[in-house]
Amino acid sequence: MNTLQDFLIHRQQRVEQVLSKLLPGSEITPTRLHSAMRYATLNGGKRLRACLVYATGAALGVALEELDAPACAVELLHAYSLVHDDLPAMDNDDLRRGKPTCHKAYDEATALLVGDALQTLAFESLATAETPGTNATQRLSMIQTLARAAGSHGMAGGQAIDLASVGLTLSLTQLADMHVRKTGALIQAAVALGALAHAHIAPVLLKDLDRYARHLGLAFQITDDILDVEGDTHTLGKPQGSDELRQKPTYPAIIGLDQAKRLARKEHAAALASLRSLGDNARLLNEIADYVIQRTY
Ligand code: IPE
Ligand code: IPE
Ligand code: MG
Ligand code: MG
Ligand code: MG
Repeated sequence: MNTLQDFLIHRQQRVEQVLSKLLPGSEITPTRLHSAMRYATLNGGKRLRACLVYATGAALGVALEELDAPACAVELLHAYSLVHDDLPAMDNDDLRRGKPTCHKAYDEATALLVGDALQTLAFESLATAETPGTNATQRLSMIQTLARAAGSHGMAGGQAIDLASVGLTLSLTQLADMHVRKTGALIQAAVALGALAHAHIAPVLLKDLDRYARHLGLAFQITDDILDVEGDTHTLGKPQGSDELRQKPTYPAIIGLDQAKRLARKEHAAALASLRSLGDNARLLNEIADYVIQRTY
């Protein structure tokens, strides 16, 4: 594979297939819940987090088959977070990945249950995956890492801060902290899971990768905030202007678009600098970082 584009397309297709097999069929009872779980997961999406698992594993020479379960686990967790994020009690959005949000296509109670069930499926898939090259200690580390990233210190905590901050002007430190938790934590977990798939990952390398992912996660959410202002609903597949409408504390709202773009570039540069020790092996991860700040959706 010579270009990042090829890599992303191949890995997106791969994770799509594995997810489709992992999710219960729509004909299996309870059919409405299973159908909604498939709807909320197999509905496009860039699969960035899965690609980060694959790219990190590839940088360390991990076999592709060992990476499917962690790649699926982070995407299942992410899909759950989006379903709940769109609910009326949270961002109250009607469009996701170019289609009606889960609670619009189904109903709110089903959307709550979809989130619950996708989250537990993520952990089940890590615990039960047929990955002969991943020992029980690695598996446990992966489960621990993902749980910590998803919980009250990570994504769920970041979402709580986001909701509590509506209408407020946060300091830059508070804003970064919120973004690192609500979005960065899962992106850090994706990179960590890819690295933990290597049986003998050196702690110093794990640290460098984690620093890369922390900067990348921040660059990713700053770009998401910028796209909410500058993007268009059709390309984004979600409602442009939702943040302003809901008075969300975002980088453009607090420091303006130009400064927000400058900061995204700064985080991008810091992400690249974190991977120097990997040399040429970091090529894909570096290109993913470029993509994260250049993307249009
Ligand atoms: C959207 O994430 C939610 C955020 C954390 C900003 P993505 O932009 O990765 O969404 P999909 O998976 O491609 O739809
Ligand atoms: C979402 O942040 C973070 C999550 C944990 C889902 P946003 O609320 O900005 O994500 P979008 O813009 O709706 O995708
Ligand atoms: Mg939100
Ligand atoms: Mg939202
Ligand atoms: Mg957003």
